[in-house]
Amino acid sequence: MVKSPGAEIRRYLAPVDTLTTQQFFTDCLVIGSGVAGLRAAIEAAAVGTVTLVSKGSIDQSNTWDAQGGIAAVLDSQDSFDKHIADTLATGAGLCDRQVVSQVIRQAPELIGELISWGTEFDRVNGVIDATFEGGHSFARVIHSHGDSTGRGIAEGLLKKLRSCPTIRTLEHFFVIDLLTGADQECCGAIGWQAGGTFQIIWAARTILATGGAGRLYRETTNPENATADGLAMAYRAGAVLRDLEFMQFHPTTLYIAGASRALITETLRGEGAILRDKDGYAFMKDYHSDGELAPRDVVSRAIVDHMHKTGATHVYLDIRHFDKEHFQKRFPFISELCDSFDIDVSKDMIPVRPSAHYMVGGIKVDSEGATNIANLYACGEAASTGLHGANRLGSNSLLEGLVYGRIAGQSAARGIDRSRPHRQHSAIEFSVPQSNRSRLDTEDVRNSLRALMWRNVGISRQESLLVETQEIIRFWQRYVMDKVFHSPAGWECQNMLTVAWLMARSAELRRESRGVHYRADFPAADDVHFLKHIEVSCAD
Ligand code: SIN
Repeated sequence: MVKSPGAEIRRYLAPVDTLTTQQFFTDCLVIGSGVAGLRAAIEAAAVGTVTLVSKGSIDQSNTWDAQGGIAAVLDSQDSFDKHIADTLATGAGLCDRQVVSQVIRQAPELIGELISWGTEFDRVNGVIDATFEGGHSFARVIHSHGDSTGRGIAEGLLKKLRSCPTIRTLEHFFVIDLLTGADQECCGAIGWQAGGTFQIIWAARTILATGGAGRLYRETTNPENATADGLAMAYRAGAVLRDLEFMQFHPTTLYIAGASRALITETLRGEGAILRDKDGYAFMKDYHSDGELAPRDVVSRAIVDHMHKTGATHVYLDIRHFDKEHFQKRFPFISELCDSFDIDVSKDMIPVRPSAHYMVGGIKVDSEGATNIANLYACGEAASTGLHGANRLGSNSLLEGLVYGRIAGQSAARGIDRSRPHRQHSAIEFSVPQSNRSRLDTEDVRNSLRALMWRNVGISRQESLLVETQEIIRFWQRYVMDKVFHSPAGWECQNMLTVAWLMARSAELRRESRGVHYRADFPAADDVHFLKHIEVSCAD
C-alpha cells in the first residue's frame, strides 16, 4: 500500500462547521451525472430520497462526449465468451474474471432497459447496427446518433430520471469533501453551490460517480470538469484507490495547434480509416499485425514512435476513400467538426495524435460497488471494479457504468430504512490554520502540472522522470495545499496535485510494462513481481 509521505494532505480542503452551515438530509447522495451516476440514482430512488449533484450542468460529463459506442453481445454469431476473452486479453492479466463475466452478461438486459427508456440505437433494416473497435474479435460496438452514443444513452437515462419523483438534482454544485463521522463512516458531503453558498448534505448512503482525471494532462479528450475531484476526496476520506498508473491514451485526437483537442472516434478505424504519416505512408502494420485495429495502447505507442522517427508533431487519419454521404450520416459530429476547420474529408486527411482519455484505475470497490468506507459506494470511471485490468477494451466503460451504476444504487438502497427517522449526526468541526507561505498562481500551477504530466507520466515513462515529477509536485503542494480557497478553481488545483502525485508514484513503483503503462526502462511485463494491483491510501 502506497502512503503519501511528506504530503501536506489535510482531511478537509475547507473549514467545516456542521452547526452553522446550511444543511439538509437525503437518503442517498449521488455525486456525478454521467451514465453511472444517473443509473445509480434511478435505482436508489425506488427506495428513498435521492439527491444527485453535478459539478457543471447535468449534461456535462465524459459520458455525454462519448462517441463510438457501447459494447454488447447482441448477435447470435457473437458470444459472451468471446467478449469476455477480448476483455481479459486487453486487460493484460489484471482483470477480475468474475467481474468481467458479470458485466458482459448483463449487457443485453441493460441495453433493452435503455431502449425502453427512450435511447435510440442506430439500426440498419430494423436491426441494431454494430461495428468494430480495436481488441474486439466481433463487431459488437453499438451506437446512437451515429457518433454521439454517450448523448443518446444519457438522454434515455435523463428521461427516466425525470420521471422519478424522489430524485432532486442540484446542478453547478461543487462537492469539496466527503464527511466522515467519529466512527469513520461516510455521512454525506460538504459542497459549494455556484453563487457562493456552502451546503452540507447529510446522507445515509453516498455514491461517488465523479468520472476521471483526463484534465491532469495537457493533451486530453476529456471535458474541463475531469479534474479527479472524486478520487482526491475519496483518498482524503481514507478510501483505498488502486491502479492509478493506468491512464489510457486514445490514439486519435484532432490535432490543430491552438484548437481544443477533440476525440476522433475509434469506430472510424473500425470502419476502415487508415493511419498515415505526412508522406502518406500507412505505418500501422509495421507495428502490429492487426494494424489500425490493434489495442489502443499499441496504436498510441506506434503513433508516438512514428512521430519520433519522422520528426512530426502528428499523424493523419485518412478517410478519403469513404463515401462522403454515408460518412456525414454515420458520423455527423465528426463531419461537422471537420467542416468547422475546413477539412474536406474527401480530399484532406485529418491531423491526429494521442491524448489522455480514460482513468483505468480508481476507487477500489467490491462486487457490490462498496468501498472500504462504510456507507460509501463508487461506480463508473471513478471506480476500480476489476473489469478493465491494466487496459480498458474500447466501449466497455459505458457498459460498466450502467452495470455498476445499477449495482451501487441497489446496494445503497438496501441499507435505507424509510420507516426510521433520519439519524442525527454528531457535529463535525474542522479549522485550517492561516498559512504564512507565499501564494502561487493556481492557474499557472495547473497549466504547468498538465504539461509536466504529459511529458513525464505520459505514453512512455522512465524512473528518473517519474521521481522528478513527484519532487516538482511536492514543491507545488507546499504552497497550494496549505491554503484555503473559496471557489472551485483552487479546490480543483489541490485535487489535481493530490492525484497527480499518486499517479506518478504508482507509475514509478510499477517497474515493468503492462497494458497502458509503458516503462521505457522496463519494456517487458514482469509477471513474477507485478501480476498484482498497486493500492494507495492515506489511512493508517
Ligand atoms: C471512441 O469513440 O473512440 C471512444 C470510445 C471509448 O473510449 O470507449
